[in-house]
Amino acid sequence: MNPQERIAQLRDDINFHLYRYHVLDNPVISDAEYDALYHELLALERENPELVTPDSPTQRAGAEPLDAFQKVQHPAPILSLSNAFNAEDLFAWRQRIGRYLPDPEMKLDYVAEPKLDGLTVVLTYENGRFTQGATRGNGEVGEDITQNLRTITAVPQRIPVDPSSKLDVPPTLVVRGEVFFPLDKFEQFNERQRLEEKQVYMNPRNAASGSLRQLDPKITAERPLTIYCYDLVAWEGIGVPDKQWDRLDYLRQLGFPVSSDSQYCANIEAVAAVYEQWKEKRNQINYEVDGVVVKINERPLADSLGFVGKDPRGAVAMKFPAQEKTTKLLDVAVNVGRTGILAPAAVLEPVEIGGVTVRNATLHNYDEIARKDIRIGDTVIVKRAGDVIPYIVGPVADLRDGSERVIEPPTHCPVCGEPALRLPDEVAIYCDNPSCPEQLVRRVEYFVSRGAMDIDGFGGKTGALLAEVGLVKDLADIYYLDRDELLALEGFKDKKVDNLLNGLAASKSQSPVRFLTALGIRFVGNVVAGVLMDAFGSIDALAETSQEQLEEVEGIGPGTAVSVTSWFADERHRALLEKFRAAGLQFAAEKPEVGEGSSKLAGLTFVITGTLPTLSRDEAKALIEANGGKVTGSVSKNTDYLLAGEKAGSKLAKAEALGIKIVSEAQLLDMT
Ligand code: IVH
Repeated sequence: MNPQERIAQLRDDINFHLYRYHVLDNPVISDAEYDALYHELLALERENPELVTPDSPTQRAGAEPLDAFQKVQHPAPILSLSNAFNAEDLFAWRQRIGRYLPDPEMKLDYVAEPKLDGLTVVLTYENGRFTQGATRGNGEVGEDITQNLRTITAVPQRIPVDPSSKLDVPPTLVVRGEVFFPLDKFEQFNERQRLEEKQVYMNPRNAASGSLRQLDPKITAERPLTIYCYDLVAWEGIGVPDKQWDRLDYLRQLGFPVSSDSQYCANIEAVAAVYEQWKEKRNQINYEVDGVVVKINERPLADSLGFVGKDPRGAVAMKFPAQEKTTKLLDVAVNVGRTGILAPAAVLEPVEIGGVTVRNATLHNYDEIARKDIRIGDTVIVKRAGDVIPYIVGPVADLRDGSERVIEPPTHCPVCGEPALRLPDEVAIYCDNPSCPEQLVRRVEYFVSRGAMDIDGFGGKTGALLAEVGLVKDLADIYYLDRDELLALEGFKDKKVDNLLNGLAASKSQSPVRFLTALGIRFVGNVVAGVLMDAFGSIDALAETSQEQLEEVEGIGPGTAVSVTSWFADERHRALLEKFRAAGLQFAAEKPEVGEGSSKLAGLTFVITGTLPTLSRDEAKALIEANGGKVTGSVSKNTDYLLAGEKAGSKLAKAEALGIKIVSEAQLLDMT
């Protein structure tokens, strides 16, 4: 077999296994076998770069950023749907369409599908290859987001995905689907964003849309988006099944993810029953559904009924009652964040929305409160989207009786009482006291978290508790915890305390990049910390750097430069650093000793996961670094190898999804 043929075969096989893994959740080969296929492909493509194609599975990790999205004309209008809100509306729809049917009373059957609350996308396949993906746009013209859609592993690159399938595919096939953020992933993702003080999304739909409309596909690649397909927009050459129910199955057979929650309904009464069931079910599934789409099963007949505006007559959306209620805004609490941000939070008269009692809601910031003119005592509209933190849509001003009070931004920190401060050009209001006890709780929580020092056995809750009881008065105190004092705390048994202390001891050898990130300097997340350490080599060197020198570093703007220099200029921070130094934390990247190491791993980035057979994690890290490699904490596109031991978890799954090479300890030892 020549390289070209082998490459083609490998791509088919890999796509098929990705599909088994991501779409069917039922892989048929081991991770190691998958890995071998992927690496064979990668190697062949490296040897034959002219054979690399954009739809190769090796290209899923994200292409180069774009300047702007191109416009694309859809092959057929991407229609919307008219709404129904109850069974009565549904029966009225059936009556209305009677006038356009050959016989108004004719027997019709239907398909009831979940109405996914995500983002519509239009996927074009030419000769079985995914060639273009677009947003809906205005229904006629959308935006070309092909490169972002390629990063979603559930979107087939080739159809049929099963290489042994005998299914004929039209030379051109255009499929419609909905891209969405699974709810559990959304929660985790937003929590990470919050800890890193990055954008927190209002709901999974906004997160999906924000993630898809990134000019840099590498960002999209990091977001756990997925898709369900439900319609054929256009096809050429050969026909497709006539019935919607069969079309769903056809899509499935081609390898597209299709919701298994769709139902066949023999008559309109069955549709009404399914809608009732869905009202219950909607809060139990891992994606957001805002209604049930009812489609006449006989598609040619449905299409022959025509449209009203942009809404086809042959289908209707039965919307669920809005997850929105009105209640009283009793008070506005002020939450203190890790960087001192004073964030307003609504205290509500408890109200039940979609089966959950809501007592609190986010109010974003004080500018927003002023813009919406929300007052204490107002009747407010509260919206809950899935499992997401509820938010206040706005006040019902007509219900005011004059007793409402305007909400003033805080002038002092509610916890420590120090004056609050507002920086020019920022909406946020800050507590400027670094020893504010509440800030400390939040800072400890961040310091120990996975994205920062990643201290095993030390969760954010433990951190917060230790700060609250006074065992931790500054960040560095966590390295001076006393075993007996810990044992005296409620719920702190021997094993827990051992785990905690071991985790802390091990974390002392975390890289200075992590350490710098964990310090929680404003605008210094892990990416900026990496840039700074690459530029200056040590925390001590960074501490002596001027604002001008910082601004000369690519990727460092004036805001970050000011934030960094003023952090290091603060005597209290200097003292804190000395305390960390005395505890044995790493202030500089360790350089392998000459003669002892090698540069065999130069330029390669490793992530370590699971329990290795003989080496401890620290030893493995030291070995990699001594040979010129780098070890980071989380798997990304920039990871070259995942060193995996037993009980490897999500990092392994992520590495596989990104197509990163996975090596065992034995393989690492061979490499060095
Ligand atoms: S069918 C003619 N099916 O709902 C076909 N739409 O309010 C019209 N949606 O823009 C669309 N799940 O984004 C259809 N199973 C489903 C859907 C679905 C979600 C969205 C779609 C559309 C909106 C209409």
